[in-house]
Amino acid sequence: MTEPRKIIIDTDPGQDDAAAILLAFGSREELDVLGITTVAGNVPLSLTSRNARIVCELCDRRDVKVFAGADAPIKRKLVTAEHVHGKTGLDGPELPEPTMALQPGHAVDFIIETLRGEPEGTVTLCTLGPLTNIALAFQKAPDIVGRVRELVMMGGGFFEGGNITPAAEFNIYVDPEAADVVFRSGVPIVMMPLDVTHQLLTRKDRVARIAAIGTAPATAMVEMLEFFERFDIEKYGSDGGPLHDPTVVAYLLKPDLFQGRECNVEIEITSDLTVGMTVVDWWHVTDRKRNAKVMRHVDADGFFALLTERFARI
Ligand code: RIB
Ligand code: CA
Repeated sequence: MTEPRKIIIDTDPGQDDAAAILLAFGSREELDVLGITTVAGNVPLSLTSRNARIVCELCDRRDVKVFAGADAPIKRKLVTAEHVHGKTGLDGPELPEPTMALQPGHAVDFIIETLRGEPEGTVTLCTLGPLTNIALAFQKAPDIVGRVRELVMMGGGFFEGGNITPAAEFNIYVDPEAADVVFRSGVPIVMMPLDVTHQLLTRKDRVARIAAIGTAPATAMVEMLEFFERFDIEKYGSDGGPLHDPTVVAYLLKPDLFQGRECNVEIEITSDLTVGMTVVDWWHVTDRKRNAKVMRHVDADGFFALLTERFARI
């Protein structure tokens, strides 16, 4: 039996972030969550840090260390998404306020210390929100970049365009400078863009299978999804909304669910019209460095079967 893969989840919960965390918690044989680091994004840092602990306690995982990170992007004013996630960021279920404490110390220092303390190439960074914490860690401790096994991130879009502006996906748009630092760093990146996540709709039949699990975590997850999807159903007129963040954890568990290719990805940080755009050289029309494995296709039924099977294990 191989050792579980060591991961740090960097997140801005967010109902879809919660789904990713539940997927990790339901996969204890394969994944060892060294810690959860929170970042301002969907809602301000105080709420993402609250929400991460709510999710841990929902899954009876008070053992997991939660560290608060950056409360604002590197240089821009924070843009949040209460219109999607609700005023708490975790609207839907009625869940108790967390009683577990945040860990002392900053998330960026936890990321640095963990990467320096674990054997080189053994820690995977799973990012579900703006890349502020990661960029700050790379800037503060450049030596850790080469120690990262892989950075698997939800963010960006190319043929699918943007979701917060016509050109930009939310996680990148909130902190484009951070994304630029990360994509230029040389860290091995696997990118889950909207081109993939928009194929993963929380259709009624899929949500019903999660509801049939009947446990407290599964029931709360369904209530989160039913709240979270309403915005995108209205926007896209689809049967369910796209489930973004669990793609990151699903990739670690079943990479064959996804297909993509190594591409150059650069981040627009200057134009007001397209700031936050991930410019993906999918057709390799330039000789720019292929700095990311960009996913484009996914087995949606296989993805939801994995989620349902793992949620049931919590
Ligand atoms: O654009 C989708 C991403 O932005 C997801 O990570 C969602 O949680 C929000 O953070
Ligand atoms: Ca997120």
